[in-house]
Amino acid sequence: MAKASPRFVCQSCGATAAKWQGRCDGCGGWNTLVEETAEARGPGIAAKVAAGGRRVEFVALRGSSAPPPRTASGMTELDRVLGGGFVPGSAVLVGGDPGIGKSTILLQAAARMAMAGGRVLYISGEEAVEQIRMRALRLGLADAPLALAAASALRDIAASLEDESQATLVVIDSIQTVWTDALDSAPGTVGQVRACAAELIRLCKSRGFALVLVGHVTKEGALAGPRVLEHMVDATLYFEGDRGHQFRILRAVKNRFGATDEIGVFEMTEQGLEEVPNPSALFLAERRGNIAGSAVFAGLEGTRPVLMEVQALLSPTPGGGTPRRQVVGWDSARLSMLMAVLETRCGLTLGQNDVYLNIAGGLRINEPAADLAVAAALVSAATAKPTSAGAVYFGEIGLSGEVRQVAQGESRLREAAKLGFSAAVLPRRVARGGRTPVAPDGMTVREIGHLADLVAPFIDPKKKPATKA
Ligand code: TYD
Ligand code: MG
Repeated sequence: MAKASPRFVCQSCGATAAKWQGRCDGCGGWNTLVEETAEARGPGIAAKVAAGGRRVEFVALRGSSAPPPRTASGMTELDRVLGGGFVPGSAVLVGGDPGIGKSTILLQAAARMAMAGGRVLYISGEEAVEQIRMRALRLGLADAPLALAAASALRDIAASLEDESQATLVVIDSIQTVWTDALDSAPGTVGQVRACAAELIRLCKSRGFALVLVGHVTKEGALAGPRVLEHMVDATLYFEGDRGHQFRILRAVKNRFGATDEIGVFEMTEQGLEEVPNPSALFLAERRGNIAGSAVFAGLEGTRPVLMEVQALLSPTPGGGTPRRQVVGWDSARLSMLMAVLETRCGLTLGQNDVYLNIAGGLRINEPAADLAVAAALVSAATAKPTSAGAVYFGEIGLSGEVRQVAQGESRLREAAKLGFSAAVLPRRVARGGRTPVAPDGMTVREIGHLADLVAPFIDPKKKPATKA
């Protein structure tokens, strides 16, 4: 057998190279090439891999498995995002920008769980014990029976957790500060983060406590110590929000024990994060009715309907320059598309104007269902006529101007009715089995098949919009 030449395999895309190189030719990733040992691909490998195996037992899909037990954190909004509380023996990654409030929310949750009688350990590699005590004082939680430690050496942390059989929750703030001397690389590097997280997760599974790893997000928006962590943990939550605003959104992007896309809404106050049980009311609190360029979108965040105000402003571009498009909280490519549809399909002239679009309150909308509300805000701004007061909008818009159905119309309408809205503008029922959501009592529904139907009453006020109760 000829001696096999060394082979280097990219750990990210699987491309191979004859010699080591810093950058993978296949995917362009840096430092992803790792030498594979000759045995791993020798001719006898298949026999070796299968040797000495034990038969696994197959079972039926239907069985009597109980849902995982849960330990409630005591913060309803956090529990909602987790799917009902922490699952013992599971690892949760909480990511977010520095300063967004990760340490605050976790200290609050940890303290509440400790006060409810659980053994909770809070290990910080970022702050000194004194600093955490001061924060707890400020949060009014100084008396919580929380076990606090400032540590960052994995060896010490692991040794302390090894005989923690009573712990219900362990918080590591943050995983980037934990390091092991088994690796030469600096704390926070991919190798360190991966190795430390793997060991901590192993401990959480074997000891049965719930583990929370705090992870910082880089400027590019990725969790430092990248995707590897997301694959290793059972749930990934992102804590988002605009630092200038007081709202914070906790969002599940992965959850092995619950639904993703669920959100929890918080408000950052002097006394820490307060839960917001009714976000719609908060997002609409400062809305001024009867003003041109504003429309209320009946949105959906996970399973939860949330009303948001879409604001548009048009102002003449100075000096005949290139018009500006400024978007906060929405997709700017989607705005360009909508404007093109409005001009081409609906005969609306937006002209030589700068366009500003804002989702009030600092929320970010990802739903295409917001199209109709954005279009309404734009048309209203362009014609200087307010949208009908007391109406909410939802519907997706296609390139030919057609308004498309969106999911969960009824829960959107119910939320609107709850907040005192009396009318809704939504997609027209489609022939093939589609149905218009049943509106709550007293709510007027206006169905729109084509965007031009939305625009017409703004351009020609004599054309009263056709409404149907
Ligand atoms: P922190 O939880 O330290 O953020 P992270 O751990 O994500 O880096 O939050 C820090 C910010 O929160 C800081 O700017 C101050 C603010 N804050 C409040 O407004 N109220 C409070 O009660 C606390 C504790 C912090
Ligand atoms: Mg912190």
